[in-house]
Amino acid sequence: MKYEGWAIYEERDISRIAVAADILSRLFGYLVPYIRPGVTTAELDERAEAFIRSEGGEPAFKGYKPPFEDVPYPYTLCVSIDQEIVHGLPSTQRVLCTGQIVSIDCGVRVEGFHADMAYTFPVGEIAAPVQRLLWVTQQALERGIAQVRAGGYLGDIGNAIHSFVKSYTFAVSEQLTGHGVGRYMHMLPDVPNTGKPGTGPRLPENLVIAIEPMVHMGSRRIRKGADGWAVETRDGSLSAHYEHTVVVRPGKAQVLTSFEPIHKALAHV
Ligand code: MF3
Ligand code: CO
Repeated sequence: MKYEGWAIYEERDISRIAVAADILSRLFGYLVPYIRPGVTTAELDERAEAFIRSEGGEPAFKGYKPPFEDVPYPYTLCVSIDQEIVHGLPSTQRVLCTGQIVSIDCGVRVEGFHADMAYTFPVGEIAAPVQRLLWVTQQALERGIAQVRAGGYLGDIGNAIHSFVKSYTFAVSEQLTGHGVGRYMHMLPDVPNTGKPGTGPRLPENLVIAIEPMVHMGSRRIRKGADGWAVETRDGSLSAHYEHTVVVRPGKAQVLTSFEPIHKALAHV
């Protein structure tokens, strides 16, 4: 069940979310050298769990029952390949191959507070239009974050994301949204990837939200994958996903998760 409260906190609790976000950000940097052709997604998952625990955090997805499912999620990571959008299952049978894109999504809990983050990686060499999908999706996230300020409109975030993505003739996922986060993984408000400017609730100071555009090369329509967990594009087109956990502050967002460890590590491989 989604916790029916807005994710608004005092500074003491925001600093706990920030600690979780820091572990999470460094986890992604740690994983970079392993994200290569031939690795099993199960290996990535095992390494991720060990890293999080060694840093004093807990894998927040493991054992978590999302609002849209009946059973708890069994792994540390969601590993979604190519046309899979979110909630791909790690498996010893799922091996990364060159030319694929892989979206890694993870949550970390520290002292009962959660941070949430996702990043889509190329596996080996990928085609130029696919590189463009990754760039547009990451840029869409930045555009959404740039709209965040105390007193601003929730609708401005989705509008910035959607209008940017549309200008590149890609589509944003139907139904899948960002969310309030912190005390629980999924809290209010929902943070849609579409919206009308100047509409929706105003963002209160110290609200913590996960902003997470999911962008498809083809149609926006989605469906459940064969394993019962993965959500994939209905037309089989590729999908990318980037996510940050941010705090609403006066005049701006404070971004708690960071892609810097990823970008540093990518520069070395
Ligand atoms: N990371 C997803 C999100 O960003 C939630 C994962 S749910 C789980 O909202 F079932 F995979 F744990
Ligand atoms: Co999320």
